[in-house]
Parts: sequence; structure tokens; C-alpha cells
Amino acid sequence: MRALITGITGQDGSYLAEFLLSRGYEVWGVVRRSSSENFERIQHIRDQIKLFEADLLDQTSLTRAVQSARPDEVYNLAAQSFVPTSFVQPVLTAEFTGIGVARILEAIKNAAPKAKFYQASSSEMFGKVLETPQTEKTPFYPRSPYGVAKVYGHYLTVNYRESYGMFAVSGILFNHESPRRGLEFVTRKITDGVAKIKLGLTNELRLGNLEARRDWGFAGDYVRAMWLMLQQNEPKDYVVATGKTHTVRDFCEIAFDSVGLNYKDHVVTDAAFLRPAEVDQLTGCPKRAEKELGWKPEVSFSEMVEMMVRADLKRLQPQSTRVVNLGFAKKAAV
Ligand code: NAP
Ligand code: GDD
Repeated sequence: MRALITGITGQDGSYLAEFLLSRGYEVWGVVRRSSSENFERIQHIRDQIKLFEADLLDQTSLTRAVQSARPDEVYNLAAQSFVPTSFVQPVLTAEFTGIGVARILEAIKNAAPKAKFYQASSSEMFGKVLETPQTEKTPFYPRSPYGVAKVYGHYLTVNYRESYGMFAVSGILFNHESPRRGLEFVTRKITDGVAKIKLGLTNELRLGNLEARRDWGFAGDYVRAMWLMLQQNEPKDYVVATGKTHTVRDFCEIAFDSVGLNYKDHVVTDAAFLRPAEVDQLTGCPKRAEKELGWKPEVSFSEMVEMMVRADLKRLQPQSTRVVNLGFAKKAAV
């Protein structure tokens, strides 16, 4: 089996590539040109994957990527994925995150119409939620240009499935994190901050809305659900979530506590990190995924928080002063 992954250099792309390699897939990744390489997350598997230069903004390069890879499965994970940036660059976000889906679907329709297609849809589409928990039937109410662009990509995927009989599915994934999460997202910002404070590199962590609630899972678990969706007989959309919700404050409490610190001594709220419109709370209902895909998350919320803190401590601690026991019961599994 051959898979083509857009966004292979991102958090999910790197976990998905590892997962597919472990199942014997030939893995192709789309990377965009930049002045310096950005392959940290895939360095350890670099010699096992094939990379193809293309861009979600460029139809010709995407069509060539599909023609060259001749994939059985295409996973479209590439996007401008940071919500605050979408308020500052709404047009670019629409181009990458929205119209980019049209370009990749066109490339598949013309060059590999039998390939199965996975679109990375998002719980951000539920935005100002109309019911709790959110299911595959909950109407969307996006609250950011990013969320609006994802709604376009979502419905376009449904439309290509219904119009052209393509095996095209959307995974509506709730927030999922890991030690490979970008440093600007709140979870990684917190665990990086905790590690810096513990190591004496800084003393405070400035955050925005501490009361926002998210249904947070572990990225390694979520890429398994993406693959399972493409192994079904019928193409269908699925919510992928833990069903549990926590505040940003809860995340801080566990993260600081895991290194013997109190978040109240270090976290400062700063209006600079508030958004023009906020998504106050998200809670997914993973029942369809559990029943039909046999999917279940394996890493709990607190295990994931501690895993991320451990990994950041390890990364930031100077080699010479690394201590063996940082007060954790478990070893890093990143
Ligand atoms: P991420 O770490 O931000 O990775 C995004 C990837 O997209 C990177 O590889 C990036 O390449 C690539 N990319 C961006 N613009 C591109 C362009 N114009 N052409 C080609 N590649 C481009 O995101 P993630 O957390 O792995 O998320 C993967 C996908 O799932 C995204 O679509 C995201 O919106 C969606 N999603 C994520 C979550 C979550 O909680 N993580 C939840 C729901 C949905 P560079 O390395 O070159 O920047
Ligand atoms: N980034 C950030 N930085 N967020 C903060 C901060 C801060 O300093 N302080 C509080 N928050 C709050 C945000 O206001 C938001 O309510 C919540 O923390 C989560 O923010 P992010 O981690 O930036 O993620 P997100 O929920 O906006 O978006 C992520 O999840 C979506 C799925 O629901 C991204 O991965 C999206 O790409 C993804 O689709």
C-alpha cells in the first residue's frame, strides 16, 4: 500500500507516517519549499519515506505529487492550523486551509480517482457550540477564519464523495497534543513554560483565557483513527474525541504540579492572548468511532500532560546537568 501525506512535517503528519510505516506502507510526503529545512519531526524516519516538493497553493505541483506517488490513500493534513494567525491572515488561511482542499481533491479526481481520501476536519467547526456533546450531526458555528475555512474543506469533501463517488471522508478531530505540538499552542506553551520555570530559565508564564474548555487527547492515538476511517467499507465522517473536557487552568494545575510547583505562583493572565471571538468549550462524542471503527484513546489526559512536561524538561536541560530522576514515575514516551 502507498500513502501520500500532505503536512508530513507537522505534528500529526509525523505520527501518521510512523504509524503507516509500521504497517508496511510505502509513505510519500508533500513538503513545501522553504529557505531552510524544517524536518525535525520526521528526521528519525527520513530515510524510510519519499518526499515530494509541492504546495497547497499550487495546483500543478499537487497534481504532479499525486501522479508520482500513485497513492492508494491520501491524507490531507496540511493547513495553516493556528487559530490566532487566521484572524491576522484570513485570506491566506482560506487559501491554504480551505481552497487547498479543492486543489488536492481535483488532483486526486484527475490523477488517481480510486485513491481513498482523508480530510483533516476540526472541532473548531463547532465553535459556539449548538449542543453538548458534539456529534457528527451537530450543526457547525465556526468562530474564526480558520474554522470557517475548515467548514468549506469539510463540505467539499462530502460533495466530492456524493458527486463523483470518491472514497472521501472527513475526520472531525478534537484537540490532540503531544511533545511534537507547535510551541504556540496552549498545551505546549504551558509544558515548555513549566520546564523553563523548573530549570530556572524564567519565572512566569503569560496566558490568555484560562477558563476555555477543550476535549484534549494524544496525537498518537488520533492518527490511528484517521487510518481506520479509510479501512471501512463505506466512506463516512467521524468525530474523534475523548468525551472528556478540561479547562486551560486544569492543564496548568497538572503540568505545574507534576514538577512540584504551584501554577498560581507563575501564571499571569495577559489580554494580548485573548481572541476576537472565543470557542468557550468543546466536548466530543466519540460513540460512532468507538462502535464502528473500534477506536479508543489509550493515553489519558494526565498521562499526556506529564509526557509533554517530561519531554520539554529533557529537551531544555543541558546535557551535562541532566538528572536521572525528575520526580516522575514513568519514562518519557515521545
Ligand atoms: P501542524 O503541526 O500545524 O502541521 C501543519 C502542516 O501543514 C505542516 O507540515 C506544514 O508545513 C503544512 N503546510 C502548511 N501550509 C502548507 C502549504 N501551503 N503547502 C504544503 N504544506 C503546508 O498541524 P497538526 O496539528 O499536525 O494538524 C494536522 C491537520 O489537522 C491540520 O490540517 C489541522 O488544521 C488539523 N487539525 C488539527 C487538530 C489538532 O488538535 N492538532 C485538530 C483538528 C484538526 P511546514 O512544516 O512547512 O509549515
Ligand atoms: N494558543 C494559546 N495561547 N491559547 C491560549 C492561551 C495562550 O496563551 N491562553 C489561553 N488559550 C486558550 C485559547 O483561547 C483557546 O480557547 C484554547 O486555549 C486552546 O487554544 P490552542 O491551543 O491555540 O488551540 P485551538 O483550540 O484554538 O485550536 C487547535 O485545536 C483545533 C481543534 O479544535 C488547533 O490545533 C486547530 O488547528 C484545531 O483545529
